[in-house]
Amino acid sequence: MKNIAVFCSGKGTNLQAIIRAVKKGKLNVNLALVISDNKEAYALKRAKKAKIKNIFVDPKQFPLKADFEAKIIEYLEQEKIDLIVLAGFMRILSRDFVTRFKNRIINIHPALLPSFKGAHGIKDAFDYGVKVTGVTVHFVDELMDHGPIILQEALRVREDETLESLEARIHKIEHKLYPEAIRLFCEGKLKIEARKVKIIA
Ligand code: GAR
Repeated sequence: MKNIAVFCSGKGTNLQAIIRAVKKGKLNVNLALVISDNKEAYALKRAKKAKIKNIFVDPKQFPLKADFEAKIIEYLEQEKIDLIVLAGFMRILSRDFVTRFKNRIINIHPALLPSFKGAHGIKDAFDYGVKVTGVTVHFVDELMDHGPIILQEALRVREDETLESLEARIHKIEHKLYPEAIRLFCEGKLKIEARKVKIIA
């Protein structure tokens, strides 16, 4: 069984969806570790409640990003982590970190990449007036919101859509898509060829 670490900075609803998928037997992984760069992240409480090892790594204690990441790597190695799942982790990982875990870090983004990268994907797409938006799960490379795409799902923006309704609809898709992407990875069903990810049946 693969050992998974989930990195979160905030609410952790995606973490919760992953925990739920494991509990329901839909996802056969060992949720070994939750790491947060934010002491107040509700995700840490969710991990604690689910009895998952959870650690706050304080970026303020490590003025150098390399030292901050070295601390995280210590925990990842202790738990023999196979896959790092970024779930609302609002920090860019260094090139060295990404290289070290090449093709073993995935991220979820609440828009159809390569559109609306960054920290406010849902609002940016809504304010732009798009008629279609969605969710992307992708491998992480050294550029932000850029690596090979694993899964995407689109939704049509309704005429009476509000930012709140759109957020709710996007999150619902995320909570289905992320466990599915993790399952595909863990079952060895993803084959990366340059920018393209083939899903092996
Ligand atoms: C999610 O919507 C995720 O797509 C987004 O942060 C949210 C975290 O929510 N990530 C990004 O915007 C990354 N660029 P959660 O803490 O409730 O899972």
